[in-house]
Amino acid sequence: MTKAKLKVEGLCRVFGEGPSAWTALNDINLSIRENEFVSLVGASGCGKSTLLSIIAGLQPADLGVILVDDKQVDAPGRDRGVVFQNYTLMPWLTAQQNIEFALRATGVKGSEIRRIAAEHIALVGLEKFADRYPAQLSGGMKQRVAIARALSYRPKILLMDEPFGALDALTRRHMQELLTSIWTRYKLTVLFVTHDVEEAIYLSDRVVVMAAQPGRIKEHVDIDLPRPRGDDMTAPGYRELYRHVLGSIREEAQRIAKLQPLDSVLG
Ligand SMILES: Nc1ncnc2c1ncn2[C@@H]1O[C@H](COP(=O)(O)OP(=O)(O)O)[C@@H](O)[C@H]1O
Ligand SMILES: [Mg+2]
Repeated sequence: MTKAKLKVEGLCRVFGEGPSAWTALNDINLSIRENEFVSLVGASGCGKSTLLSIIAGLQPADLGVILVDDKQVDAPGRDRGVVFQNYTLMPWLTAQQNIEFALRATGVKGSEIRRIAAEHIALVGLEKFADRYPAQLSGGMKQRVAIARALSYRPKILLMDEPFGALDALTRRHMQELLTSIWTRYKLTVLFVTHDVEEAIYLSDRVVVMAAQPGRIKEHVDIDLPRPRGDDMTAPGYRELYRHVLGSIREEAQRIAKLQPLDSVLG
């Protein structure tokens, strides 16, 4: 049995104060094994981004703890790399310089910075684009730079919030394949937020479905499909898993829809 790399214990997050206070996350417990790939899915507004940002140390929890290798963390750290959909690159820096900037900020020594940045630009296949500015890169390329940047200081945990959400289907699939190969190569532990059930199943060892109001974990679904996983997802068992996860999210979306207008819960 592999040990837990990342643990979330009894996590609660409340927004607002007094009578208008409401619980965004309620008693979240989650344990992710070393080198496990876990996706987090659930209706829009159920607290996925809030949970990820607390794990990243970007906002506090009101109750509960985050443990990395059994040690409590409550601030951003080199042990956790972060890639968000809108976690933008700095527009006045080139792809290479964006990575160098992150390395400098995490305390890597001067002489090493250029070499490590170039190595990670190559890892995501952007050698020819290292000197381009973000505005001169496609959406997929920008996300590749963001991934290279998050990996450059060698975190063992990668936290990703809908990182491919804005990409077209073909680019998205390329990025999923790239991520799978990097995950395998570096034995990363990944927590990946997506609203795309197919993407969650394609990438993950386990899919965690969240429920809303208050945000909490509804169920864990093991994805025991063989790897590497094909493009057409015709593997025996795939359809059942897809139907199960989608059904679970829909059931939850319908439950919330009874509490509020439908267009605010789809996503
Ligand atoms: N800083 C904040 N202040 C108040 N409410 C917030 C804040 N951040 C998120 N929320 C609310 O918490 C809920 C969960 O949001 P979020 O984590 O973004 O959900 P998801 O990523 O699953 O769509 C939403 O209702 C959102 O409006
Ligand atoms: Mg979100």
